[in-house]
Amino acid sequence: MKIKALNGFKDIIPGEVELWQQVENSARDIFARFNFSEIRTPILEKTDLFARSIGETTDIVEKEMYTFVDKQITMRPEATASLLRAYIQHGLHVQKPIQRLFTIGPMFRHERPQKGRLRQFHQMDAEVLGTANPRVDAELMAMGAMLLHELGVTVSLEMNSLGCPVCRPGFRETLLAFIEERKEALCEDCGRRSKTNPLRVLDCKNPKCREQVEEAPSIQEHLCDDCDEHFGAVQSGLQQLGIQYSLNRFMVRGLDYYTRTTFEFITQDLGAQAAVGAGGRYDSLVEKLGGPNVPGIGFAIGMERLVLLLQQHEEEVPVGNAIDIFVAGLGEKASEFAFSLVHALRQKGLQTAMDHEGRSLKSQMKQANKVHSRYVLIIGENELEQGQAVLRNMVNQEQQEIAINRGTEELSHFLVEECQPSSNVAKLSAQKL
Ligand code: HAM
Repeated sequence: MKIKALNGFKDIIPGEVELWQQVENSARDIFARFNFSEIRTPILEKTDLFARSIGETTDIVEKEMYTFVDKQITMRPEATASLLRAYIQHGLHVQKPIQRLFTIGPMFRHERPQKGRLRQFHQMDAEVLGTANPRVDAELMAMGAMLLHELGVTVSLEMNSLGCPVCRPGFRETLLAFIEERKEALCEDCGRRSKTNPLRVLDCKNPKCREQVEEAPSIQEHLCDDCDEHFGAVQSGLQQLGIQYSLNRFMVRGLDYYTRTTFEFITQDLGAQAAVGAGGRYDSLVEKLGGPNVPGIGFAIGMERLVLLLQQHEEEVPVGNAIDIFVAGLGEKASEFAFSLVHALRQKGLQTAMDHEGRSLKSQMKQANKVHSRYVLIIGENELEQGQAVLRNMVNQEQQEIAINRGTEELSHFLVEECQPSSNVAKLSAQKL
């Protein structure tokens, strides 16, 4: 019996992986423009880290974590908690009062798999620690918007404020009173949520519950003065940067650590899985995890959803690593010659390929086309004896005879110069000639 990947776990194979690389490269480029540094944290963490940060009564912690129960360790369901754990553990706040960090990698949640929802999925996550300045909230949303825009994805930005420990308890009471009057009409989940986490009732997807909460009090009207001022300043910041957004008083988010600003990048093109990215502020979380009392804000973009959107829009998936030169040796002697030449070319940084199966010229040319080779060097048995070979430019089909009886070192230098290589190593080695 064939063994297949687990349900909700996916391979990303050549032909698909190029788009992932494109997404990742764009993200790295944009994160660098905004002065973020990369951090990489382990997949496994103590279960308690996620319970304390994401919240004991959230769906993620209650139902979705991959936990080794006997060891009390869990495969990370998101990046923020791990990143903060590392920030505290390494005293990064001492090194620099404001840290701008990003990470890219797999996360794990035991959800029901469907289009755009996996059990192993990937996030590109960015966090700013050490500042409560509302401009940073606007800047982060602008960064997410810029990344999605540059990749050609259309999303809308929705924003809310969840208040703080000063104003949220009051709103919670007001909301509870409102829910109490309608509790018969709410779904079973909301009946339970109204006891543990009443704000979650506001973003229940059940149409019946949606109808019921239509008239619910708005948290935006129950913010304390500080939160209200912050909320206004974030919006001014967005307007100043020309970032379109709308306010969504029903957005609560499925993680408990948020204070004040929360936001989501929403698409209409992925059915139920509408959030391509999401995040918010968490001003008490670092302290709650045993660190200093520093505020923070961040967001994560789901890579599977982003790639799905790009696949929908893109007619042709970009080609992967184009080969600089394919060396086609015909016959055993020519292949032997090609074998060491290819190695020398690779040492000089050229992306190089050859055939090892003794195939015909026609078939090798086909192979060269398949790997989008920019040049092919054709070495026949007779040509080898005469110290000649044909170098064909596959883009304009021009070809020239070149001398190959000059030692591998000199020949490979010559080819590096001829082929105007794509890799930096090769460019450097060409400059040194
Ligand atoms: P989240 O809303 O749980 O937030 O996830 C962020 C994004 O990850 C979602 O918008 C979605 O694109 C993607 N995502 C989540 N679950 C799945 C899944 N099962 N399959 C595919 N994609 C998924 C967080 O994780 C927060 N840590 C974001 C954050 C960072 N807040 C502050 N800093």
